[in-house]
Amino acid sequence: MLKHLQLTNIGPADTKLDFADRLNLITGDNGLGKSFLLDIAWWAMTRKWPGELNSRLTSGRVALPTDKKKKAEIDFSFTGVVKTKKHVSTFEPRLQNWSIPPGRPANPGLVFYAMADGSFAVWDPARNYWRTKAEEALDRPPAYVFSPKEVWDGLQRDDGTWLCNGLIRDWAGWQKEKGRAFESLAAVLAALSPSTAEILLPGALTRISLNDVRDMPTLKMPYGQEVAVVHASSGMRRVISLAYFLVWCWEEHLKAKELMGEEPESKTTFLIDEVESHLHPRWQRTVIPTLLQVMSQLTASAQVQLIAVTHSPLVMASVEPMFDEQHDAWWDLDLLRPHENDVATVAFSRRPFVRLGDVSRWLVSEAFDLGSARSLEAEKVLQQAALILSEKEIDHAKATTLDASLRKLLGDTDPFWIRWRYVGEKQGWLQ
Ligand SMILES: Nc1ncnc2c1ncn2[C@@H]1O[C@H](COP(=O)(O)OP(=O)(O)O)[C@@H](O)[C@H]1O
Ligand SMILES: [Mg+2]
Repeated sequence: MLKHLQLTNIGPADTKLDFADRLNLITGDNGLGKSFLLDIAWWAMTRKWPGELNSRLTSGRVALPTDKKKKAEIDFSFTGVVKTKKHVSTFEPRLQNWSIPPGRPANPGLVFYAMADGSFAVWDPARNYWRTKAEEALDRPPAYVFSPKEVWDGLQRDDGTWLCNGLIRDWAGWQKEKGRAFESLAAVLAALSPSTAEILLPGALTRISLNDVRDMPTLKMPYGQEVAVVHASSGMRRVISLAYFLVWCWEEHLKAKELMGEEPESKTTFLIDEVESHLHPRWQRTVIPTLLQVMSQLTASAQVQLIAVTHSPLVMASVEPMFDEQHDAWWDLDLLRPHENDVATVAFSRRPFVRLGDVSRWLVSEAFDLGSARSLEAEKVLQQAALILSEKEIDHAKATTLDASLRKLLGDTDPFWIRWRYVGEKQGWLQ
């Protein structure tokens, strides 16, 4: 459970965030450092960069200072299983990496990270933490980091040991076993489905090639066909890989804890980038509430913290019924340029969450900073029309030309027509 992060001299902005203990939503334009912040959050809790552990990843590399001559710091704290751990890490230019606090690091509980490109990482205290005092002299067993292909086909260590069978083999194995894992997978798939009419239902196993000997899981489509999971749409593959990843992590955690005769972890942190990626609006509207619900049910965790990046107004609108300022926070990244010729700066702020009730109002809110939810052309003509309406003496010829443009660009039911027609008819430039 991440409590705070304070960054000095790294990334686009110096910033301090005090995270909420349940849901943290992060918005902001492209390139302002949202994914970068998730990488740092992951590193703070696990001490390794995802790109350091798996060279096939195209992101998640070690964070470098902005000004190499100045001190760079990552100040962080998280509530671990036993206590709250606070540490200030500085960049060590000779190591080209960050100082690590001495002694046994605190256990942050389970940490999941779903990256925007379909890569996943998990840090499981049952498997990535020293089990005995004697092991502490050795380097800690690294976290599991999967490139998108490895999520499906399996993850191997450099020495050839299989760390994970991958979605295709595990799903097929679980389905044949008819045990707890398959039940969980089917339940998570059903829960992550957007409606009862559109449930992700596993079909019969099949083969898709003479050369691929693997039994291939399928999904039952509403149009009556069973489609191999590798042929499913990007949106469905995103949801099923999320479902598989959660179930796999939890199953392996349970198995490890059973072996050790211990209780499962009670704390889970889930970092998820571009949570809506590939999802249809219907799915975007359900993904956050259902993820929270699925994670607390699946892991029986007393505490689940979700830190999610989004570019979707639907995601913002979807959390309105559940948002509670005591447990949830909305963080927004903005580019500030007080004067036209100033160099812009990036600022992170915690915004008060006000229910807007409507997706288009979210688009024009501080979360997305659009001038309007219409086309850019319509937005420009509307600005001119609004300007003309504010004039004392309206130039009728100008208004008539604008009226023609508005007819081309606005929908018949656009609310702007009411005001436009009212003033136009009153002043006589509209019949
Ligand atoms: N390894 C790194 N070291 C230092 N800065 C980085 C690193 N990776 C990304 N950044 C910073 O983050 C910015 C990219 O931000 P990113 O998080 O990918 O944007 P987005 O908000 O779209 O997710 C870069 O322009 C750079 O300033
Ligand atoms: Mg990003």
